[in-house]
Amino acid sequence: MRVLFVCLGNICRSPTAEGVLRHQLQATGLDRRVEVASAGTGDWHVGKPPDRRAQQAGAARGYDLSALRGQQVCVDDFHEYDLILAMDESNLSNLKRLQPAGAKAEVDLFLRRYQAAVDEVPDPYYGGDDGFSEVLDLIEHGCRGLVRELQGRS
Ligand code: 4NP
Repeated sequence: MRVLFVCLGNICRSPTAEGVLRHQLQATGLDRRVEVASAGTGDWHVGKPPDRRAQQAGAARGYDLSALRGQQVCVDDFHEYDLILAMDESNLSNLKRLQPAGAKAEVDLFLRRYQAAVDEVPDPYYGGDDGFSEVLDLIEHGCRGLVRELQGRS
């Protein structure tokens, strides 16, 4: 089972989701069966580490994002991943536009799928540090729902 998180730049929200899910998969022993990655719909930050504020907010909760590097979503991803989860509606519509016919990946809006209080993880890039903490709250909630789904599939 392979999961890909997608946001716009792949330096704030989706690498945070990758780090949180990795942590939860290890805690539940699902890491042997589930692979996780993240990507952006844009290419500006390919090869770059996550935003310093995302790394700091993650580290404060025990998530080490420092080894992650930006990558851009590509058409092959729809054949290689089983589940592609968008952080917001704009990411979702960009993914749907790229999605090739017949590819196996299920494409969905991350928080809506796991019934969070809101449907979208807001983009924290142009905001203050509080935004990164809110992003983590939402992503931790979503990942708990995702882990329950993955446990149910086993
Ligand atoms: P992300 O945040 O999509 O959560 O990684 C952003 C990062 C960079 C930009 C926009 C959003 N940017 O415009 O460079």
